[in-house]
Amino acid sequence: MIYNIALLKGDGIGPEIVDSAVKVLGKTAEKFGDKFNFTSYLIGGAAIDETGQPLPKETVEGCLKSDSVLLGAVGGYKWDNLSGDKRPEKALLGIRSALGLYTNLRPAKLYPALRSASPLKDEIVGDGFDIMIVRELTGGIYFGDRGYNDGKFGREAFDTERYSIMEIERIGKAAFEIAMKRNKKLCSIDKANVLETSRLWRKIMHELSEQYPEVEYSDMFVDNAAMQLVRNPRQFDVIVTSNMFGDILSDEASQITGSIGMLASSSLGGVGDNKYSLYEPIHGSAPDIAGKDIANPIATILSAAMMMRYSFDRADMAECIENAVDKVLEKGYRTADICADGEYIKCSEMTERIVELL
Ligand code: IPM
Ligand code: MG
Repeated sequence: MIYNIALLKGDGIGPEIVDSAVKVLGKTAEKFGDKFNFTSYLIGGAAIDETGQPLPKETVEGCLKSDSVLLGAVGGYKWDNLSGDKRPEKALLGIRSALGLYTNLRPAKLYPALRSASPLKDEIVGDGFDIMIVRELTGGIYFGDRGYNDGKFGREAFDTERYSIMEIERIGKAAFEIAMKRNKKLCSIDKANVLETSRLWRKIMHELSEQYPEVEYSDMFVDNAAMQLVRNPRQFDVIVTSNMFGDILSDEASQITGSIGMLASSSLGGVGDNKYSLYEPIHGSAPDIAGKDIANPIATILSAAMMMRYSFDRADMAECIENAVDKVLEKGYRTADICADGEYIKCSEMTERIVELL
């Protein structure tokens, strides 16, 4: 098969880690007799420098005609002082919205080989945890009306949270379906003691739970959830939550694995009958280490594996890549971020080792 993949390398370490994943995919294709056509498009700060826009029209068009999209990361100090609409991050929201990617899957799994990297105590981690955060990605406060007003205390800024029944239902269904394929346990996280959007969210989730009697369903307030994640992460399996709560909780969940440089993510959805997808590492552009060849490429490589499985239905290729990553870790190879002590290898060397093990 020939697969057309759009590459959005972006900023900071984005180009290095996407290039690593491209090498891994290239060798995988060779092995299975398939072919990838890669086309790079500008996004984020790199796009601002070149075109004045964080998300040029050609980028959106290119992604819409590709079979899937692999993204590195966007943002950096250089563009930090631009106004809201011109910031590199705006491109992320824009591409998610343009491709209708409302389901964001962010796994937070503890790799046994990297146990010592987790900041949590042994008695809390036990034999490990494996949480899947399902974050709503194209609605809520990140996309609501915003602006400035003259209010009771003078000049004020505002952002609004808004969720329709349709948006809650479709992300809820996606989460219940995922729960059915895992351990049939789902926790919905909201702030229904305060927010109207959360009360609607909770009502719809309860209605859906009746359609999935096999799923052990619960709900939790977000402040409690933030605490429970560090107190007892093993109580969670699948979590479903709104855009902003998912943004915050997924950073927390990834940090407790101790290996944010290992975690992949996928954003799925579509517009009309068209299915689109985008895969990216959970971590950001890490401008402080950009260009030094010390980033961990594994999250991006595993994102590419996720693409093989979920968008191309190629579990064979996905397993091949995932096994190579497992083997490289078993052999003791570490990049700086996951190296508790001793020797670490560079991004390019980690990539070569993984390619050799495919
Ligand atoms: C993420 C990031 C983005 C988000 C930012 C950079 C717009 O934090 O993917 O989690 O908030 O969604
Ligand atoms: Mg975030």
